[in-house]
Formats: sequence, structure tokens, C-alpha cells
Amino acid sequence: MKITICPSEVSFDQTAAWRIIAQMLSKPNAVIGLSTGQTTINMHRIVSDIFRQYPFDVSGITLFNVDELTNLPRSYAGSCYTMILNQLAGPLGIPEENFIMPPTMSADFEAEARLFEQRLSERGNADLQMLGIGSNGHIGINQPGTPFESETWVSPMDPDFEARVRRETQVPPDTVLGGLTRGIKNIMHTRKLILIAKGAHKAAIVRQAVRGPVTTDIPASVIQLHPNCEVLLDAEAASRL
Ligand code: GLP
Repeated sequence: MKITICPSEVSFDQTAAWRIIAQMLSKPNAVIGLSTGQTTINMHRIVSDIFRQYPFDVSGITLFNVDELTNLPRSYAGSCYTMILNQLAGPLGIPEENFIMPPTMSADFEAEARLFEQRLSERGNADLQMLGIGSNGHIGINQPGTPFESETWVSPMDPDFEARVRRETQVPPDTVLGGLTRGIKNIMHTRKLILIAKGAHKAAIVRQAVRGPVTTDIPASVIQLHPNCEVLLDAEAASRL
């Protein structure tokens, strides 16, 4: 596992943005997995800014997000579809058919999960996954305890995240919230993983994921077993390594 420590948050954002651009330039039909959250907003903006200034060919690029919320309208500002559309897919002009996302609403999420995987596999599967990490070690929405053999499925959210979504959406309390997430097995089958984290609040979990035992208690620790994995951090997130 390669560990890259950027001296500042800005250089982290820039480095992560260039990882995405480098993948697009080196493989014009690359299939690129993204993740949403505070970690990725600036890097997506930088990719969009560079593309606007120095356009390059993205007509063969496929984008998808590692996870999506369930049982909320897709138009909710916090849905992964809307976030990636606004932050990256829209600014790059990625056509709808090359932006692969499961729906947020469905009567059969198991079928949606299979279809999501099938669409990725028809394109040769993911070349790159930019992988955020939750403060409890989750990747995608795979919470602690998720088996490493898990395949794309609907997982419960972590309680803090769920509380935030409920505050922001006022969904009825009886609506079951969750997230359709690529399973740990699917994530591990990506050709290249880049685990990304910035900020002091991620330092402890990054240490556990990177230096601790490989255990389902810390889903992100599984990346230690990946043959082509980079951990990209700013100095604060790396401060306990
Ligand atoms: C959510 C997302 C994850 C993301 C994580 C980290 O749980 N579903 O994909 O990696 O948040 O978010 P942040 O970057 O805001 O810390």
C-alpha cells in the first residue's frame, strides 16, 4: 500500500483531483467510482475547473458513485446522484447513459443492486475508486461488521449520518432510510483504490484502517489486502500514523 501525505488541505484537494484527471487521460474509456461527502467537494470542483480551462475528451468516460441513499427523492440535495451531478458529471458534460447510478426509490432494491453491478461489469468494471472513509471506518455505506464477502446491497446508515439526513429531509419517522452501496467484495475488485481522508477528525480512524488489524470491525481496514491501493491524506489526517 502506498501512502501519500499532502502538506496541506489544498494540496490534498489538488492531488486527489489530478488522480481523477490522470485516470481519465490515461484511459479514455475509464470507469471511475466517486464518493460524496465533505472530503470530495473541493477535489470535484478542481477537476471541473481544470476541465473548463483545458477541456479534454471525456466522451468515453463512465462515472458512478460508490453508494446512494434509499427511500428519499433523487432531487434531495444530499442524494449522491444530485451531488455528483452538480459537482462533476454536469460540469464535465457526462451524458446520462455514462453516469451510472442506482435509483433512490424502488420497490426492489435487490434487483437494482444487481442491475447496478451488471451495468458496471458491461463496461469492464471499475478502474478507479476514490474511496472516502466514515469516522467509524465505513466505506461506501458498509458499516462495521459487514462481511468482506458482501456484494452490492442496501445497508443501514450510521446513526449520526441518518440523524443528519432526517433533519435535512423531514422524511416521516416510519420511512426506513439506508443506502445502496457497493459491497466490500465489489469495492475490492476495483483495479485501483484510493482511500482519501483529510482533517484531524479522521486521524484516529485512518490509523486504525491503515496500521491496525484487518477486521470487519473497521471495514476500511480491508484495503490493506488490495494489491493496488493508495492512501491519500492531508497532514492532519496522517498525524497519527
Ligand atoms: C458518507 C458516504 C461515504 C463517504 C463518507 C465520508 O457515509 N456515504 O461514501 O465516504 O460519508 O464522508 P465525509 O467525506 O463527509 O467525511
